[in-house]
Amino acid sequence: MAISSTQKQDRSTELPPSTHPLDPLNADEIRTTVALLQDAGIAHDKTRFITVTLEEPMKDVLLEWIPDDVLERQAFAVLLDNTDGNTIEALASLTQQKILKHEHIPDVQPAIVLDEFFECEEALKQDKDFQEALRNRGITHFELLMIDPWSVGDYGDEPEQGRRLACALAWTCKEAGENGYAHPVLGLMAWIDLNTMKVIRVEDSGVVPIPGQSGNYAARYFEGKFREAPKPLEIVQPEGPSFSVDGNSVEWLGWSFRIGFNAREGLVLHQIGYSDPAQNSRLRSIIHRVSVSEMVVPYGDPDNNYARRNAFDVGEYGIGLFANSLELGCDCLGLIRYFDAHMATGRGEVMEIRNAVCMHEEDYGILWKHSDWRTGDVEVRRSRRLVVSFIATVGVYEYGFFWYFYLDGTIQLEIKLTGIVSTGALAPGETRKYGTEIAPRLYAPIHQHVFNVRMDMAIDGPNNSVYEVNTRSEPMGPNNPLGNACYAEETLLKNEQDAARNMSLESARHWKIVNPNVTNSLGQPVGYKLVPEVNAFPFSDPQSSVRRRAGFMNHHFWATAYNSRERYAAGDYPNQSDPCVDHGLPDYIKQNRSLENTSLTVWHSLNSHHVVRPEDWPVMPVATIGFHLKPVGFFDRNPAINLPPTSSKGSKNSNDSNCH
Ligand code: NI
Repeated sequence: MAISSTQKQDRSTELPPSTHPLDPLNADEIRTTVALLQDAGIAHDKTRFITVTLEEPMKDVLLEWIPDDVLERQAFAVLLDNTDGNTIEALASLTQQKILKHEHIPDVQPAIVLDEFFECEEALKQDKDFQEALRNRGITHFELLMIDPWSVGDYGDEPEQGRRLACALAWTCKEAGENGYAHPVLGLMAWIDLNTMKVIRVEDSGVVPIPGQSGNYAARYFEGKFREAPKPLEIVQPEGPSFSVDGNSVEWLGWSFRIGFNAREGLVLHQIGYSDPAQNSRLRSIIHRVSVSEMVVPYGDPDNNYARRNAFDVGEYGIGLFANSLELGCDCLGLIRYFDAHMATGRGEVMEIRNAVCMHEEDYGILWKHSDWRTGDVEVRRSRRLVVSFIATVGVYEYGFFWYFYLDGTIQLEIKLTGIVSTGALAPGETRKYGTEIAPRLYAPIHQHVFNVRMDMAIDGPNNSVYEVNTRSEPMGPNNPLGNACYAEETLLKNEQDAARNMSLESARHWKIVNPNVTNSLGQPVGYKLVPEVNAFPFSDPQSSVRRRAGFMNHHFWATAYNSRERYAAGDYPNQSDPCVDHGLPDYIKQNRSLENTSLTVWHSLNSHHVVRPEDWPVMPVATIGFHLKPVGFFDRNPAINLPPTSSKGSKNSNDSNCH
């Protein structure tokens, strides 16, 4: 992108003042960063901009920051030079209008950007060998092909070493726009060099007849008869929402936090805290920064058509880049506040995603209730939650990330998985034990979606400790004559290697993060517990390439000493990462730093195990995985006991004959 001289001159006056050091880069700041990189000769017309994001100020700097303090605005960029395949990291000062440093990072491949997907599909459609393999399968309408480039991992194959590659798989449509994932072109894989956009290898392992049954689901193609629509259900908030928003700062019924967003992690929540009415509305910090740091989807079929299928959707593609522009009344119901996202495209232009983040309130049933059977008094309070969410479409799958804040101090993450499963084909009469036939001869291999959530904790201050809590049975004996006794045993996780832990149903295990320097009125250290939910262990072999590259899968819980540079569970550059070395969490914890009464980061791995069902086709109903963070002694008692009774004018008794 060429920058005109007028634009260059105007740059210093173009920048609107940022209101807070954690505000994501705005469109002008992205343009300025790109221009600074171009002016310095670091970026040119063969450069791909992988990410251009805010360089967030350090935690200790932010803790000291007060409004009106001017902090230097910095932007961090990862660039790929297509001429030599080099990866460059650069840091720009937007305040000083200059590049502070730039550095070649050897032996890594940055994430694959959207432009590469399109160029890759075009290159393949023009390739003679690929075309011939398609003709052998009776496919002549190349315009109806759907080509999905997958990251290639690292399996030690020559001549792939050192090249930036994608492996393309193909599906075909019967007519433009229909669901091609119903018609996989199995047995055909192509490797493309993404720097030159040249096809380097077409692998044809034999023709498998293409499954023919339609998988169409879109309203305009829907072939069945729509069922009767449910009667309208409207969310009405006649007096407006209970939240208030100032820029990216949100306040809601005691809660406060800041919304952040970037290309790699998508939604980031900063400075989550609670103004405690029991402490003169003192703002008590809980989490300094939280985001989904990585996810990987390993597939479980050993056949060559499937064995390399795995995708690190955060680190290899960037879930923020694939965020949906959300629609009122469809994705989000009720009184909605949206936040837009600005990111750089591969060519350094600004991509705006309108309504990328949705925020609204939801009624959530009852929060607490008691009927006094002696007096007949009934007290009930309704639960309400604030929902902050975004949805990313990464290839076939949709991932919705929903953060919930509750009136009793609970924080929850719910990840919603929907979209289309990755498909293959069965030969006539073939059955396979590694997956499910989901339509005639249409096959979906077993797989897992493993997420990792990174949380910089700040329970009532910067210095925290972490305990594992296991419930133990007391042996039957003189101290436990009836054998009923059990107790919760707390074990301090003193260092990083001790803190790599797995779930245990046998001991109802959870983890508790406390501030040992602050106690509640009962003398207990204030804390929050991480309550894991449905989860699974990985099934790929510990020595397999994908398991080695995604070592964060090995444990459900990790804790590390805070380091703003240690951001990603599978490391900075998971694309084509080397399976012979440790990346991300297994590497970070080699330092075995102390976790006692210090600034720490907690990481939770969530493994959504997917044995595919016919009912997951053609579009899968939402499956969920997540966890809760619940206050433990953070408050002195139920912090929602002070909620006043409410009534609902809109609710009616449908038993009444005049109620419709
Ligand atoms: Ni799945």
